[in-house]
Amino acid sequence: MSASLVPDLPAVVTPGRLFIDGRFVESLSGKSFDSINPATEEVLTSVSEGDRADIDAAVAAARAAFETGPWPRMRPRDRGRLLLKLADLISANAEELARLETLDNGKPIAETLNVDIPQAAEVFAYYAGWADKIHGETIPATNDHFTYTLREPHGVCGQIIPWNFPLLMAAWKLAPALACGNTVVLKPAEQTPLTALRLAELVAEAGFPPGVVNVVPGYGPTAGAALAAHPGVDKIAFTGSTEVGRLIQKAAAGNLKSVSLELGGKSPNIVFADADIDAAVQGAIRGIFFNQGEVCCAGSRLFVEESAHDHFVEALAGFAGALKQGDPLDASTQVGAQVSDEQFEKILGYIESGVQAGATLLTGGARQGEKGYFIQPTVFTGVDKNAAIAREEIFGPVVSTFTFKGIDEAIAEGNDSNYGLAAAVWTRDIKKAHRVAQALRAGTVWVNTYNAFDTAVPFGGYKESGTGRELGVQALDLYTQTKSVWIALD
Ligand code: NAI
Ligand code: MG
Repeated sequence: MSASLVPDLPAVVTPGRLFIDGRFVESLSGKSFDSINPATEEVLTSVSEGDRADIDAAVAAARAAFETGPWPRMRPRDRGRLLLKLADLISANAEELARLETLDNGKPIAETLNVDIPQAAEVFAYYAGWADKIHGETIPATNDHFTYTLREPHGVCGQIIPWNFPLLMAAWKLAPALACGNTVVLKPAEQTPLTALRLAELVAEAGFPPGVVNVVPGYGPTAGAALAAHPGVDKIAFTGSTEVGRLIQKAAAGNLKSVSLELGGKSPNIVFADADIDAAVQGAIRGIFFNQGEVCCAGSRLFVEESAHDHFVEALAGFAGALKQGDPLDASTQVGAQVSDEQFEKILGYIESGVQAGATLLTGGARQGEKGYFIQPTVFTGVDKNAAIAREEIFGPVVSTFTFKGIDEAIAEGNDSNYGLAAAVWTRDIKKAHRVAQALRAGTVWVNTYNAFDTAVPFGGYKESGTGRELGVQALDLYTQTKSVWIALD
Protein backbone atom coordinates (compact mmCIF):
# COMPACT_ATOMS: atom_id res chain seq x y z
CA MET A 1 0.00 0.00 0.00
CA SER A 2 1.23 3.47 -0.77
CA ALA A 3 1.68 5.87 2.09
CA SER A 4 -0.08 9.21 2.04
CA LEU A 5 1.09 11.81 -0.46
CA VAL A 6 -0.43 14.62 1.59
CA PRO A 7 1.15 15.88 4.81
CA ASP A 8 -0.68 15.86 8.12
CA LEU A 9 -3.33 13.29 7.34
CA PRO A 10 -4.36 11.43 10.49
CA ALA A 11 -2.38 8.21 10.94
CA VAL A 12 -5.56 6.14 10.97
CA VAL A 13 -6.06 6.77 7.24
CA THR A 14 -2.46 6.38 6.06
CA PRO A 15 -3.28 3.80 4.87
CA GLY A 16 -6.90 3.29 5.88
CA ARG A 17 -8.05 -0.08 7.15
CA LEU A 18 -11.34 -1.71 8.08
CA PHE A 19 -12.71 -1.24 11.60
CA ILE A 20 -14.13 -4.57 12.76
CA ASP A 21 -14.81 -5.70 16.32
CA GLY A 22 -13.05 -2.68 17.77
CA ARG A 23 -9.80 -3.11 15.81
CA PHE A 24 -8.35 -1.78 12.57
CA VAL A 25 -7.61 -4.70 10.23
CA GLU A 26 -6.53 -5.32 6.65
CA SER A 27 -9.14 -6.63 4.22
CA LEU A 28 -9.08 -10.43 3.91
CA SER A 29 -8.27 -10.19 0.20
CA GLY A 30 -5.36 -7.81 0.87
CA LYS A 31 -6.75 -5.55 -1.88
CA SER A 32 -6.91 -1.78 -1.52
CA PHE A 33 -8.14 1.24 -3.44
CA ASP A 34 -7.08 4.87 -3.59
CA SER A 35 -8.96 7.83 -2.23
CA ILE A 36 -8.50 10.84 -4.51
CA ASN A 37 -8.42 14.56 -3.78
CA PRO A 38 -10.93 15.83 -6.38
CA ALA A 39 -9.44 19.33 -6.33
CA THR A 40 -6.04 18.08 -7.51
CA GLU A 41 -6.87 14.64 -8.97
CA GLU A 42 -4.03 13.28 -6.85
CA VAL A 43 -4.08 10.25 -4.59
CA LEU A 44 -4.62 11.16 -0.93
CA THR A 45 -4.03 7.74 0.54
CA SER A 46 -4.87 4.11 -0.05
CA VAL A 47 -7.62 2.30 1.83
CA SER A 48 -8.12 -1.40 2.45
CA GLU A 49 -10.94 -2.69 0.25
CA GLY A 50 -13.68 -4.58 2.05
CA ASP A 51 -15.62 -7.28 0.19
CA ARG A 52 -18.13 -10.03 0.98
CA ALA A 53 -15.83 -11.91 3.39
CA ASP A 54 -15.05 -8.73 5.34
CA ILE A 55 -18.76 -7.90 5.52
CA ASP A 56 -19.31 -11.42 6.91
CA ALA A 57 -16.70 -10.75 9.60
CA ALA A 58 -18.17 -7.36 10.46
CA VAL A 59 -21.73 -8.74 10.63
CA ALA A 60 -20.49 -11.56 12.90
CA ALA A 61 -18.85 -8.98 15.20
CA ALA A 62 -22.00 -6.85 15.25
CA ARG A 63 -24.12 -9.97 15.93
CA ALA A 64 -21.94 -11.04 18.84
CA ALA A 65 -22.00 -7.50 20.25
CA PHE A 66 -25.78 -7.52 20.04
CA GLU A 67 -26.46 -11.05 21.33
CA THR A 68 -23.88 -11.31 24.10
CA GLY A 69 -22.13 -7.95 24.47
CA PRO A 70 -22.93 -5.22 26.98
CA TRP A 71 -24.43 -2.75 24.49
CA PRO A 72 -28.15 -3.69 24.38
CA ARG A 73 -28.05 -4.61 28.09
CA MET A 74 -26.47 -1.36 29.22
CA ARG A 75 -28.63 1.25 30.94
CA PRO A 76 -30.03 3.35 28.08
CA ARG A 77 -28.71 6.44 29.85
CA ASP A 78 -25.19 5.01 29.69
CA ARG A 79 -25.55 4.48 25.95
CA GLY A 80 -26.58 8.12 25.80
CA ARG A 81 -23.46 9.13 27.72
CA LEU A 82 -21.24 7.34 25.19
CA LEU A 83 -23.04 9.04 22.30
CA LEU A 84 -22.54 12.39 23.99
CA LYS A 85 -18.86 11.63 24.48
CA LEU A 86 -18.57 10.84 20.78
CA ALA A 87 -20.29 14.16 19.96
CA ASP A 88 -17.74 15.95 22.15
CA LEU A 89 -14.82 14.14 20.50
CA ILE A 90 -16.09 15.17 17.05
CA SER A 91 -16.27 18.79 18.25
CA ALA A 92 -12.81 18.59 19.82
CA ASN A 93 -11.37 17.32 16.51
CA ALA A 94 -13.54 19.50 14.27
CA GLU A 95 -10.73 21.27 12.44
CA GLU A 96 -8.93 18.08 11.60
CA LEU A 97 -12.15 16.37 10.47
CA ALA A 98 -13.14 19.40 8.36
CA ARG A 99 -9.80 19.43 6.57
CA LEU A 100 -9.95 15.67 5.99
CA GLU A 101 -13.50 15.93 4.59
CA THR A 102 -12.55 18.81 2.32
CA LEU A 103 -9.51 16.95 1.01
CA ASP A 104 -11.49 13.76 0.36
CA ASN A 105 -14.68 15.30 -1.05
CA GLY A 106 -13.63 18.61 -2.67
CA LYS A 107 -16.19 20.72 -0.80
CA PRO A 108 -15.16 24.12 0.61
CA ILE A 109 -13.55 24.21 4.05
CA ALA A 110 -16.03 26.95 5.06
CA GLU A 111 -18.78 24.35 4.62
CA THR A 112 -17.09 21.46 6.38
CA LEU A 113 -16.11 23.72 9.29
CA ASN A 114 -19.51 25.39 9.63
CA VAL A 115 -21.95 22.74 8.44
CA ASP A 116 -20.77 19.15 8.02
CA ILE A 117 -18.71 18.63 11.14
CA PRO A 118 -20.67 20.70 13.71
CA GLN A 119 -23.94 19.19 12.46
CA ALA A 120 -22.50 15.68 12.74
CA ALA A 121 -21.59 16.39 16.37
CA GLU A 122 -25.06 17.81 16.97
CA VAL A 123 -26.77 14.70 15.59
CA PHE A 124 -24.88 12.48 18.06
CA ALA A 125 -25.69 14.87 20.92
CA TYR A 126 -29.38 14.99 19.94
CA TYR A 127 -29.79 11.19 19.87
CA ALA A 128 -27.73 10.88 23.06
CA GLY A 129 -30.64 12.73 24.65
CA TRP A 130 -33.18 10.26 23.23
CA ALA A 131 -31.41 7.10 24.44
CA ASP A 132 -33.28 6.95 27.78
CA LYS A 133 -36.57 8.31 26.43
CA ILE A 134 -37.52 5.54 24.01
CA HIS A 135 -40.39 3.73 25.70
CA GLY A 136 -43.60 1.86 25.04
CA GLU A 137 -47.15 2.34 26.28
CA THR A 138 -49.67 0.64 28.48
CA ILE A 139 -52.87 -0.14 26.60
CA PRO A 140 -56.21 -0.60 28.42
CA ALA A 141 -57.45 -3.16 25.90
CA THR A 142 -59.36 -5.71 27.96
CA ASN A 143 -60.32 -5.90 31.61
CA ASP A 144 -58.67 -9.24 32.25
CA HIS A 145 -55.22 -8.41 30.86
CA PHE A 146 -52.50 -5.94 31.57
CA THR A 147 -51.07 -5.04 28.16
CA TYR A 148 -48.04 -2.97 27.31
CA THR A 149 -45.60 -2.40 24.46
CA LEU A 150 -41.81 -2.47 24.39
CA ARG A 151 -39.69 -0.63 21.84
CA GLU A 152 -36.83 -2.95 20.99
CA PRO A 153 -33.85 -2.56 18.66
CA HIS A 154 -33.86 -4.56 15.42
CA GLY A 155 -30.44 -6.05 16.15
CA VAL A 156 -27.74 -5.71 13.49
CA CYS A 157 -28.18 -2.74 11.14
CA GLY A 158 -26.42 -2.38 7.79
CA GLN A 159 -25.95 1.24 6.73
CA ILE A 160 -24.74 2.33 3.29
CA ILE A 161 -23.98 6.00 2.80
CA PRO A 162 -23.01 8.34 -0.07
CA TRP A 163 -20.12 10.72 -0.63
CA ASN A 164 -21.83 14.13 -0.67
CA PHE A 165 -21.87 14.67 3.14
CA PRO A 166 -19.71 11.77 4.27
CA LEU A 167 -19.38 12.34 8.02
CA LEU A 168 -22.82 13.93 8.37
CA MET A 169 -24.50 10.99 6.62
CA ALA A 170 -22.60 8.61 8.91
CA ALA A 171 -24.01 10.58 11.88
CA TRP A 172 -27.60 10.53 10.53
CA LYS A 173 -27.34 6.76 10.25
CA LEU A 174 -25.31 5.76 13.30
CA ALA A 175 -26.69 8.04 16.01
CA PRO A 176 -30.37 6.95 16.04
CA ALA A 177 -29.46 3.29 15.45
CA LEU A 178 -27.10 3.32 18.44
CA ALA A 179 -29.44 5.29 20.68
CA CYS A 180 -32.01 2.52 20.17
CA GLY A 181 -29.50 -0.18 21.17
CA ASN A 182 -28.69 -1.66 17.76
CA THR A 183 -25.23 -2.62 16.53
CA VAL A 184 -24.05 -1.43 13.12
CA VAL A 185 -22.01 -2.25 10.05
CA LEU A 186 -21.44 0.99 8.15
CA LYS A 187 -20.21 1.06 4.56
CA PRO A 188 -18.97 4.51 3.55
CA ALA A 189 -18.88 5.52 -0.12
CA GLU A 190 -15.74 4.41 -1.96
CA GLN A 191 -15.09 8.02 -3.04
CA THR A 192 -14.95 9.35 0.55
CA PRO A 193 -14.07 6.75 3.19
CA LEU A 194 -11.64 8.80 5.27
CA THR A 195 -13.75 10.66 7.83
CA ALA A 196 -15.71 7.47 8.61
CA LEU A 197 -12.40 5.80 9.53
CA ARG A 198 -11.38 8.71 11.72
CA LEU A 199 -14.84 8.53 13.30
CA ALA A 200 -14.25 4.82 13.99
CA GLU A 201 -11.12 5.79 15.86
CA LEU A 202 -13.14 8.28 17.93
CA VAL A 203 -15.74 5.56 18.59
CA ALA A 204 -12.96 3.45 20.10
CA GLU A 205 -11.60 6.42 22.04
CA ALA A 206 -15.06 7.17 23.47
CA GLY A 207 -15.17 3.63 24.84
CA PHE A 208 -17.93 1.93 22.83
CA PRO A 209 -17.77 -1.85 23.32
CA PRO A 210 -16.11 -3.76 20.43
CA GLY A 211 -18.43 -4.77 17.58
CA VAL A 212 -21.06 -2.11 18.26
CA VAL A 213 -19.80 0.04 15.38
CA ASN A 214 -17.99 -1.57 12.44
CA VAL A 215 -16.83 0.40 9.40
CA VAL A 216 -16.10 -1.43 6.15
CA PRO A 217 -14.99 0.73 3.21
CA GLY A 218 -15.42 -0.90 -0.19
CA TYR A 219 -17.33 -0.72 -3.47
CA GLY A 220 -21.10 -0.81 -3.85
CA PRO A 221 -21.60 -3.90 -6.02
CA THR A 222 -19.31 -5.95 -3.75
CA ALA A 223 -19.26 -4.81 -0.11
CA GLY A 224 -22.52 -2.81 -0.35
CA ALA A 225 -24.47 -5.55 -2.11
CA ALA A 226 -23.19 -8.17 0.36
CA LEU A 227 -24.40 -6.04 3.28
CA ALA A 228 -27.84 -5.41 1.74
CA ALA A 229 -28.41 -9.11 1.02
CA HIS A 230 -26.86 -10.45 4.23
CA PRO A 231 -29.15 -12.87 6.11
CA GLY A 232 -27.51 -11.82 9.39
CA VAL A 233 -28.54 -8.18 8.97
CA ASP A 234 -31.93 -7.23 10.46
CA LYS A 235 -32.28 -3.74 9.05
CA ILE A 236 -30.71 -1.92 6.10
CA ALA A 237 -30.60 1.85 5.71
CA PHE A 238 -29.37 3.45 2.51
CA THR A 239 -28.79 6.93 1.13
CA GLY A 240 -27.82 7.29 -2.52
CA SER A 241 -29.20 6.94 -6.03
CA THR A 242 -32.75 5.79 -6.72
CA GLU A 243 -31.29 3.17 -9.06
CA VAL A 244 -29.27 1.55 -6.25
CA GLY A 245 -32.18 2.07 -3.83
CA ARG A 246 -34.20 -0.36 -5.97
CA LEU A 247 -31.34 -2.89 -5.80
CA ILE A 248 -31.21 -2.56 -2.01
CA GLN A 249 -34.94 -3.14 -1.71
CA LYS A 250 -34.66 -6.29 -3.85
CA ALA A 251 -31.62 -7.58 -1.97
CA ALA A 252 -33.43 -7.04 1.33
CA ALA A 253 -36.28 -9.30 0.23
CA GLY A 254 -34.24 -12.45 0.98
CA ASN A 255 -34.70 -12.26 4.76
CA LEU A 256 -37.30 -9.46 4.57
CA LYS A 257 -35.07 -7.14 6.55
CA SER A 258 -36.52 -3.75 7.36
CA VAL A 259 -35.55 -1.13 4.75
CA SER A 260 -35.26 2.65 4.79
CA LEU A 261 -34.16 4.58 1.73
CA GLU A 262 -33.23 8.22 1.17
CA LEU A 263 -32.83 8.61 -2.57
CA GLY A 264 -32.60 11.15 -5.35
CA GLY A 265 -34.57 14.27 -6.11
CA LYS A 266 -35.44 16.87 -8.72
CA SER A 267 -36.83 19.40 -6.32
CA PRO A 268 -39.00 22.29 -7.55
CA ASN A 269 -38.20 25.77 -6.32
CA ILE A 270 -41.27 27.91 -7.09
CA VAL A 271 -41.07 31.71 -7.10
CA PHE A 272 -44.26 33.77 -7.36
CA ALA A 273 -44.07 37.31 -8.71
CA ASP A 274 -45.27 38.66 -5.33
CA ALA A 275 -42.22 37.23 -3.51
CA ASP A 276 -39.30 39.18 -2.08
CA ILE A 277 -37.38 38.67 -5.30
CA ASP A 278 -33.93 39.55 -3.94
CA ALA A 279 -34.34 36.98 -1.17
CA ALA A 280 -35.66 34.43 -3.64
CA VAL A 281 -32.66 34.90 -5.94
CA GLN A 282 -30.31 34.28 -3.01
CA GLY A 283 -32.40 31.28 -1.99
CA ALA A 284 -32.24 29.88 -5.51
CA ILE A 285 -28.44 30.30 -5.50
CA ARG A 286 -28.15 28.47 -2.18
CA GLY A 287 -30.69 25.90 -3.28
CA ILE A 288 -28.74 24.73 -6.30
CA PHE A 289 -25.08 25.68 -5.81
CA PHE A 290 -24.60 24.71 -2.17
CA ASN A 291 -22.16 21.78 -2.02
CA GLN A 292 -21.55 22.05 -5.80
CA GLY A 293 -25.13 20.89 -6.37
CA GLU A 294 -24.27 17.51 -4.88
CA VAL A 295 -27.33 17.62 -2.65
CA CYS A 296 -30.28 15.24 -2.83
CA CYS A 297 -32.74 18.10 -2.20
CA ALA A 298 -31.06 20.59 -4.57
CA GLY A 299 -33.54 23.05 -6.12
CA SER A 300 -32.71 21.94 -9.65
CA ARG A 301 -36.06 22.87 -11.21
CA LEU A 302 -36.62 26.58 -10.76
CA PHE A 303 -40.08 27.88 -11.67
CA VAL A 304 -40.47 31.66 -11.83
CA GLU A 305 -43.85 33.29 -12.43
CA GLU A 306 -43.95 34.73 -15.93
CA SER A 307 -44.00 38.43 -15.08
CA ALA A 308 -40.89 38.12 -12.87
CA HIS A 309 -38.99 35.54 -14.92
CA ASP A 310 -36.64 37.55 -17.13
CA HIS A 311 -35.45 39.91 -14.41
CA PHE A 312 -35.09 36.99 -12.00
CA VAL A 313 -32.97 34.75 -14.20
CA GLU A 314 -30.74 37.66 -15.17
CA ALA A 315 -30.01 38.39 -11.52
CA LEU A 316 -29.57 34.69 -10.82
CA ALA A 317 -27.03 34.28 -13.62
CA GLY A 318 -25.15 37.35 -12.39
CA PHE A 319 -24.77 36.01 -8.87
CA ALA A 320 -24.00 32.49 -10.11
CA GLY A 321 -21.19 33.78 -12.30
CA ALA A 322 -19.72 35.74 -9.38
CA LEU A 323 -19.47 32.82 -6.92
CA LYS A 324 -15.90 32.23 -5.87
CA GLN A 325 -14.75 28.85 -7.12
CA GLY A 326 -11.37 27.31 -6.47
CA ASP A 327 -9.13 25.72 -3.86
CA PRO A 328 -11.50 24.07 -1.36
CA LEU A 329 -8.99 24.66 1.45
CA ASP A 330 -9.18 28.44 0.92
CA ALA A 331 -11.57 29.84 3.55
CA SER A 332 -13.16 32.24 1.04
CA THR A 333 -14.03 29.58 -1.55
CA GLN A 334 -17.78 29.21 -2.14
CA VAL A 335 -17.82 26.46 -4.78
CA GLY A 336 -15.37 23.56 -4.68
CA ALA A 337 -14.77 20.54 -6.90
CA GLN A 338 -17.18 17.75 -7.86
CA VAL A 339 -16.40 14.56 -5.99
CA SER A 340 -15.05 12.36 -8.76
CA ASP A 341 -14.10 12.00 -12.39
CA GLU A 342 -17.30 9.99 -12.90
CA GLN A 343 -19.56 12.73 -11.51
CA PHE A 344 -17.57 15.41 -13.37
CA GLU A 345 -18.12 13.63 -16.70
CA LYS A 346 -21.75 12.89 -15.92
CA ILE A 347 -22.52 16.57 -15.21
CA LEU A 348 -20.67 17.83 -18.28
CA GLY A 349 -22.66 15.26 -20.29
CA TYR A 350 -25.93 16.69 -18.96
CA ILE A 351 -24.82 20.24 -19.79
CA GLU A 352 -24.02 19.13 -23.33
CA SER A 353 -27.40 17.39 -23.61
CA GLY A 354 -29.13 20.59 -22.45
CA VAL A 355 -27.44 22.60 -25.18
CA GLN A 356 -28.29 19.90 -27.75
CA ALA A 357 -31.93 20.02 -26.62
CA GLY A 358 -32.04 23.73 -27.43
CA ALA A 359 -31.95 25.24 -23.94
CA THR A 360 -30.28 28.64 -23.51
CA LEU A 361 -27.10 28.69 -21.43
CA LEU A 362 -27.18 31.90 -19.39
CA THR A 363 -23.95 31.36 -17.49
CA GLY A 364 -21.38 28.64 -16.81
CA GLY A 365 -21.57 25.44 -18.81
CA ALA A 366 -17.91 24.42 -18.72
CA ARG A 367 -15.09 23.09 -16.63
CA GLN A 368 -13.31 25.63 -14.45
CA GLY A 369 -9.52 25.55 -14.73
CA GLU A 370 -7.46 22.65 -16.03
CA LYS A 371 -6.93 20.51 -12.99
CA GLY A 372 -9.46 19.16 -10.54
CA TYR A 373 -13.11 18.34 -11.11
CA PHE A 374 -14.38 21.92 -11.06
CA ILE A 375 -17.54 22.81 -12.98
CA GLN A 376 -18.81 26.37 -13.30
CA PRO A 377 -22.17 27.21 -11.71
CA THR A 378 -24.54 26.80 -14.66
CA VAL A 379 -27.95 28.33 -15.40
CA PHE A 380 -30.19 27.18 -18.24
CA THR A 381 -33.36 28.89 -19.34
CA GLY A 382 -35.89 28.06 -22.05
CA VAL A 383 -35.68 24.39 -21.08
CA ASP A 384 -38.09 21.88 -22.65
CA LYS A 385 -39.81 20.25 -19.68
CA ASN A 386 -39.25 16.80 -21.18
CA ALA A 387 -35.51 17.31 -21.70
CA ALA A 388 -33.16 15.13 -19.65
CA ILE A 389 -31.85 18.18 -17.74
CA ALA A 390 -35.43 18.98 -16.72
CA ARG A 391 -36.31 15.51 -15.45
CA GLU A 392 -33.22 13.62 -14.31
CA GLU A 393 -31.13 14.18 -11.22
CA ILE A 394 -27.87 15.84 -12.34
CA PHE A 395 -26.32 16.16 -8.88
CA GLY A 396 -24.19 19.08 -9.97
CA PRO A 397 -24.23 22.89 -10.12
CA VAL A 398 -26.81 23.05 -12.92
CA VAL A 399 -30.25 24.66 -12.66
CA SER A 400 -33.05 24.61 -15.24
CA THR A 401 -35.43 27.56 -15.11
CA PHE A 402 -39.04 27.58 -16.34
CA THR A 403 -41.93 30.03 -16.35
CA PHE A 404 -45.46 29.45 -15.10
CA LYS A 405 -48.74 31.34 -14.73
CA GLY A 406 -50.68 31.16 -11.48
CA ILE A 407 -50.93 28.80 -8.56
CA ASP A 408 -52.54 25.80 -10.28
CA GLU A 409 -49.87 25.58 -12.92
CA ALA A 410 -47.16 26.01 -10.25
CA ILE A 411 -48.52 23.04 -8.31
CA ALA A 412 -49.00 20.85 -11.38
CA GLU A 413 -45.50 21.56 -12.70
CA GLY A 414 -43.91 21.20 -9.29
CA ASN A 415 -45.47 17.76 -8.86
CA ASP A 416 -44.66 16.62 -12.40
CA SER A 417 -41.73 14.42 -11.33
CA ASN A 418 -41.14 10.84 -10.19
CA TYR A 419 -39.25 12.31 -7.26
CA GLY A 420 -40.65 13.98 -4.14
CA LEU A 421 -37.86 14.80 -1.74
CA ALA A 422 -38.17 18.56 -1.19
CA ALA A 423 -39.70 21.72 -2.63
CA ALA A 424 -39.75 25.44 -1.95
CA VAL A 425 -42.22 28.23 -2.52
CA TRP A 426 -41.52 31.96 -2.42
CA THR A 427 -44.44 34.36 -1.94
CA ARG A 428 -45.65 37.16 0.36
CA ASP A 429 -49.19 35.75 0.24
CA ILE A 430 -49.72 33.53 3.29
CA LYS A 431 -52.71 31.70 1.82
CA LYS A 432 -50.81 30.87 -1.34
CA ALA A 433 -47.85 29.66 0.72
CA HIS A 434 -49.98 27.23 2.73
CA ARG A 435 -51.99 26.03 -0.27
CA VAL A 436 -48.88 25.24 -2.27
CA ALA A 437 -47.09 23.67 0.73
CA GLN A 438 -50.03 21.31 1.22
CA ALA A 439 -50.40 20.45 -2.45
CA LEU A 440 -46.77 19.62 -3.18
CA ARG A 441 -45.95 15.92 -2.92
CA ALA A 442 -42.62 16.21 -1.15
CA GLY A 443 -41.18 15.21 2.21
CA THR A 444 -40.03 18.75 2.98
CA VAL A 445 -41.48 22.08 1.82
CA TRP A 446 -39.62 25.30 2.50
CA VAL A 447 -41.47 28.63 2.40
CA ASN A 448 -39.34 31.71 1.70
CA THR A 449 -36.18 29.76 2.52
CA TYR A 450 -34.15 26.85 1.15
CA ASN A 451 -32.02 24.08 2.67
CA ALA A 452 -33.18 24.79 6.23
CA PHE A 453 -32.28 21.74 8.32
CA ASP A 454 -32.35 20.79 11.97
CA THR A 455 -31.60 17.51 13.69
CA ALA A 456 -35.04 17.63 15.35
CA VAL A 457 -36.96 17.93 12.05
CA PRO A 458 -37.68 14.77 10.01
CA PHE A 459 -36.35 14.46 6.48
CA GLY A 460 -37.15 11.96 3.74
CA GLY A 461 -38.90 11.38 0.46
CA TYR A 462 -42.28 10.89 -1.18
CA LYS A 463 -42.56 8.84 -4.37
CA GLU A 464 -39.23 7.57 -5.76
CA SER A 465 -37.22 9.72 -3.35
CA GLY A 466 -37.42 7.03 -0.74
CA THR A 467 -39.18 5.55 2.21
CA GLY A 468 -38.88 6.31 5.92
CA ARG A 469 -37.92 9.53 7.71
CA GLU A 470 -34.52 10.28 9.16
CA LEU A 471 -33.73 12.84 11.90
CA GLY A 472 -36.11 13.89 14.65
CA VAL A 473 -38.13 11.49 16.74
CA GLN A 474 -39.18 9.75 13.50
CA ALA A 475 -35.75 8.15 13.04
CA LEU A 476 -36.35 6.17 16.23
CA ASP A 477 -39.15 4.38 14.37
CA LEU A 478 -36.63 3.21 11.78
CA TYR A 479 -34.41 1.61 14.38
CA THR A 480 -36.92 -0.01 16.74
CA GLN A 481 -39.72 -2.52 16.50
CA THR A 482 -42.67 -2.79 18.83
CA LYS A 483 -43.42 -5.83 20.96
CA SER A 484 -46.85 -6.23 22.60
CA VAL A 485 -46.92 -8.05 25.94
CA TRP A 486 -50.17 -9.51 27.36
CA ILE A 487 -50.41 -10.52 31.00
CA ALA A 488 -53.50 -12.42 32.06
CA LEU A 489 -55.01 -10.98 35.25
CA ASP A 490 -57.78 -13.51 35.82
P1 NAI B 1 -24.71 5.20 -5.57
O1 NAI B 1 -26.14 5.14 -5.22
O2 NAI B 1 -24.14 4.17 -6.49
O3 NAI B 1 -23.79 5.18 -4.24
C1 NAI B 1 -24.23 5.43 -2.93
C2 NAI B 1 -23.72 4.32 -2.01
O4 NAI B 1 -24.27 3.08 -2.43
C3 NAI B 1 -22.20 4.13 -2.02
O5 NAI B 1 -21.78 3.78 -0.73
C4 NAI B 1 -22.04 2.95 -2.95
O6 NAI B 1 -20.85 2.22 -2.73
C5 NAI B 1 -23.24 2.13 -2.62
N1 NAI B 1 -23.67 1.19 -3.67
C6 NAI B 1 -23.53 1.31 -5.01
N2 NAI B 1 -24.03 0.23 -5.63
C7 NAI B 1 -24.51 -0.59 -4.67
C8 NAI B 1 -25.14 -1.87 -4.68
N3 NAI B 1 -25.38 -2.52 -5.82
N4 NAI B 1 -25.50 -2.42 -3.50
C9 NAI B 1 -25.27 -1.78 -2.34
N5 NAI B 1 -24.66 -0.59 -2.27
C10 NAI B 1 -24.28 0.01 -3.42
O7 NAI B 1 -24.43 6.63 -6.15
P2 NAI B 1 -23.19 7.08 -7.09
O8 NAI B 1 -22.97 6.04 -8.14
O9 NAI B 1 -22.04 7.41 -6.24
O10 NAI B 1 -23.76 8.40 -7.73
C11 NAI B 1 -24.65 8.30 -8.85
C12 NAI B 1 -25.79 9.27 -8.71
O11 NAI B 1 -26.57 8.92 -7.58
C13 NAI B 1 -25.41 10.70 -8.45
O12 NAI B 1 -25.05 11.37 -9.62
C14 NAI B 1 -26.66 11.23 -7.84
O13 NAI B 1 -27.60 11.52 -8.86
C15 NAI B 1 -27.18 10.06 -7.03
N6 NAI B 1 -26.80 10.20 -5.60
C16 NAI B 1 -27.75 10.63 -4.72
C17 NAI B 1 -27.41 10.82 -3.39
C18 NAI B 1 -28.41 11.29 -2.39
O14 NAI B 1 -28.04 11.85 -1.38
N7 NAI B 1 -29.69 11.06 -2.58
C19 NAI B 1 -26.06 10.61 -2.90
C20 NAI B 1 -25.14 10.11 -3.90
C21 NAI B 1 -25.52 9.93 -5.19
MG1 MG C 1 -23.03 3.97 -8.34
